[in-house]
Amino acid sequence: MATGGKVPWGREYLNEFFITLDADINNEEGEGSMKTMEFFHDVFGGGSYSGRLIDIGSGSTFYQVISASKFFSEIVCSDYDKDARTELEKWLKKDKNAFDWTSYFQYYLDLEGSSEKIEDREQKLRQAVKAVVHCDVHQPNPTYPLTFEPFDVVTSAFCVEAASPDRAAYAKAVANISTLSKPGGTIVFATYIGATFCNIGGVKAKLLPIEVEFVVQTFKDAGFSDFNTFFYPSPEREESKITDVKGILLFTAKKSG
Ligand SMILES: C[S@@+](CC[C@H](N)C(=O)[O-])C[C@H]1O[C@@H](n2cnc3c(N)ncnc32)[C@H](O)[C@@H]1O
Repeated sequence: MATGGKVPWGREYLNEFFITLDADINNEEGEGSMKTMEFFHDVFGGGSYSGRLIDIGSGSTFYQVISASKFFSEIVCSDYDKDARTELEKWLKKDKNAFDWTSYFQYYLDLEGSSEKIEDREQKLRQAVKAVVHCDVHQPNPTYPLTFEPFDVVTSAFCVEAASPDRAAYAKAVANISTLSKPGGTIVFATYIGATFCNIGGVKAKLLPIEVEFVVQTFKDAGFSDFNTFFYPSPEREESKITDVKGILLFTAKKSG
């Protein structure tokens, strides 16, 4: 469960962080999210990975699987929060009140240098997403009561530090997530470093402040190796209204086996 009370992870989260793509492209504060999207493009855009993918703690967002949708036959999105899952389902069903991800699709297509139409890529993503499921990273099987065959790729962005009250819970959550990966499978992970909070629609979500070394060691302990890590420090700020994040860690690693 998210710490710090009921955080509005549905539409409010999107409104707080995802309606400003154009501004983010030219704004230092948005640099972290741009680096994260470039990372997902670098990992998935070239087609090095394919098969089945599960995204853990998807929240209400699809930006993290737009590149992957070109190559994966099955994508499972997951989150603890019902409002977040409802946002995902609204977009999948083309509900008229669904969030508009068009500018994100265009952004990824531009990164790919692709002339594919936005609607065609949207259709690919809608076809690839086979399920949006409840998940709790604190359960030994995070998708309980559903059980899936282990996945080729597990992605998770900015979830575990929001879900975990302390380091022991974080480490356990990572171990739980690792069970979803095939031996030899890949984890694609994004996390805030050093953040204690994040403000969403006026509600303060408590985050677990962690360091790069702790995160990498935790994944090593959970059976991952061959890390490819990127760290982007946050710009210096006078005050932190939205978050006191110190940097963003992005990495891929392989599950042993
Ligand atoms: C900061 S949001 C990240 C959303 C999205 N992945 C992104 O990159 O923007 C954190 C998400 O973690 C989810 N979460 C919190 N506790 C969780 C838990 N125990 N298991 C799974 N997800 C959880 C929240 O519901 C929320 O959607």
